[in-house]
Amino acid sequence: MRRKVIAANWKMNKLPNDAMKFIAELVTIVKETDVEIILCVPYIDLFYCILNVQGTNIKIGAQNMHFEDSGAYTGEISGEMLKCIGVKYVIIGHSERRQYFGETDEIVNKKLKSAFRNDLKPIVCVGEKLEERESGKAIEVITSQTQKALDGLTKEQVENTIIAYEPIWAIGTGKTATSEDANESVKAIRAKIAEIYGDDTAQKVIIQYGGSVKPSNAKELFSTSDIDGALVGGASLKAEDFSKIIEYKD
Ligand code: 13P
Repeated sequence: MRRKVIAANWKMNKLPNDAMKFIAELVTIVKETDVEIILCVPYIDLFYCILNVQGTNIKIGAQNMHFEDSGAYTGEISGEMLKCIGVKYVIIGHSERRQYFGETDEIVNKKLKSAFRNDLKPIVCVGEKLEERESGKAIEVITSQTQKALDGLTKEQVENTIIAYEPIWAIGTGKTATSEDANESVKAIRAKIAEIYGDDTAQKVIIQYGGSVKPSNAKELFSTSDIDGALVGGASLKAEDFSKIIEYKD
């Protein structure tokens, strides 16, 4: 049985003070849970968050990184830098980065390799645009993104990669994919991994769903056969909402 992994993606929200208040609140309201909890926070919040989650079951991740370890890349942050301050996870290839910052599948692949070089666990995002879904290309798009992202990784690295299936039309729109559709897409991603790396590996990979996940739809999404948790945007900004998603079983 794969565990459930629920990650917050705060995007460009929360100053350090707000981040620390959030953690203090979340710790008091989340009861004992077997869910793995990750907060992916803005760079400037990382160190404050790492200090504030000590002794809790919350882990901290970044939302992006550069693929080189160091060099003349003004304004960038490397995997080596993240590792050095105790970051454990990093989101790679979020659709907002692909869309607004020109990240290609090749860049995503280089970033994944750099994450593993620096002992960071990647959460790699794949997802189709509305027009791709409407023209029946969704599965082709997401399986191709998955294959290109994982290219050249070892089986062990693939098993340690978290994939977030985030249909772009469902992000921040309030439109969630139906649990059946989301599960079908996640299954197709798992089948592609099985085809390349074998079923044993595919069965170990955590594949999340992301896109307007909220307390009211979490339970249904997580009751499917293949969805192993969520990458949550808007509903992760309030500790109360996020804790309800973590406690989806209640
Ligand atoms: P929303 O939950 O706000 O739709 O965002 C999803 C997302 O992009 C998480 O990475």
